Amino acid sequence: MVYRAGVYGRHPRVPTVYRALAREAKRRLDARAYGYVAGGAGDEATQRADRTAFDHWSVVPRVLRDVSRRDTSVELFGRRLPAPVLLGPVGALELVHPEGDLAVARAAAAVGVPMVFSNQASVPMETTAAAMGDSPRWMQLYWSTSDELVESLLGRAEAAGCDAVVVTLDTTMLGWRPRDLDLGHLPFALGKGIAQYTSDPVFRRLVEERAAAAGTPRDPQPRPNAAAVRALVGMSRAWSRATGMPMREALRSPLPRAAVEVFLGIYSRPSITWADLAWLRERTRLPIVLKGVLHPDDARRAVDEGVDGLVVSTHGGRQVDRSIAALDALPDVVDAVADRVPVLFDSGVRSGADVLVAVALGARAVLLGRPYAWGLGVAGEDGVRQVVEDVLGEFDLTLGLTGHTAVDQLSREVLRRRP
Ligand code: FNR
Repeated sequence: MVYRAGVYGRHPRVPTVYRALAREAKRRLDARAYGYVAGGAGDEATQRADRTAFDHWSVVPRVLRDVSRRDTSVELFGRRLPAPVLLGPVGALELVHPEGDLAVARAAAAVGVPMVFSNQASVPMETTAAAMGDSPRWMQLYWSTSDELVESLLGRAEAAGCDAVVVTLDTTMLGWRPRDLDLGHLPFALGKGIAQYTSDPVFRRLVEERAAAAGTPRDPQPRPNAAAVRALVGMSRAWSRATGMPMREALRSPLPRAAVEVFLGIYSRPSITWADLAWLRERTRLPIVLKGVLHPDDARRAVDEGVDGLVVSTHGGRQVDRSIAALDALPDVVDAVADRVPVLFDSGVRSGADVLVAVALGARAVLLGRPYAWGLGVAGEDGVRQVVEDVLGEFDLTLGLTGHTAVDQLSREVLRRRP
């Protein structure tokens, strides 16, 4: 399809080569927005390792096997997906494009791949879900300090037709991200990744209670510095958009200030342990998928505790610097899980050939992150769609060119470890 379009003189909307795509995004985006997406934890050694790990595996193609008809589909939680690919949760997408999650949702639905709604989305999940028709969607959760908020988010995910909830465990606290620190990113971005909260009745009630307890806006306030003003303006915009309060009023209201305070205290609970999983299990009928599992013992324990799936991930190298690469962790986790639940994979997937390697190592499917964020930044919905279609197209081609006609024919047998 892609080649045929090329024969008829159609140029791609966004560069097909990943590095060129990231370069183009860098050229167009605000430095803070670019740095936020591109950056990782610390020295970014994990991020580099996530990529070089792919270089340690080679596919050994087979010939003369009639590959004229191929089926790239896989089944996941009772749904047939067109390929072993999902769009992973990426927060604050409005930083890279004004339509943010909405453009991604439309592109995902057009191709039929599931989108995982980020807990830090720029658009409330109900709005994104409504743009997707019957197309599959999941919700990602950061475990809040408020039980009530967690319950509310789970209920909303069910009502929005989500097929699964992904609980991200590697972000009990935000990682050490020097690029963001140096660029003063956090106040810049605060209002962009908060739509799941400002649209939530529990969050709003907590904000109103906080604002009431803090007194009226006439009370003396500490003199804010420039960063605090920026954070407040961003939050006022988010609050105004979510509640319909006019922006002029929001800027003077105590509510956005209270929302910043409540959010900072609520979004994540570093004290969670295995014992809390049972609580979560009782509060949703959706399959529970744990994201950010890298140790085989944790994987085994998770399955013993009754979770429905795992995502092997380093969060794109954004949390722990000098961590094991996600791909290097994958085989041991797959062995520990022993087919009891599906194991998904992300961190470093850039192409259809990468998808094939991860699947051959035992991943049921992979999540894309930065590639589609760059596609969004460069060409909005069309850009996301092209990035995803390119990955699916190359996966299909590589499947056939290595002598396979279906995803379940892939196994470690098709790979060799490079010396
Ligand atoms: C992320 N990721 C992420 N994960 C999550 O569970 N919730 C989130 O809100 C976010 N937000 C987010 C923002 C940005 C800008 C990036 C790049 C990543 C992690 C994401 O789901 C996935 O694990 C990584 O993107 C995988 O790494 P690569 O392949 O994108 O490098």
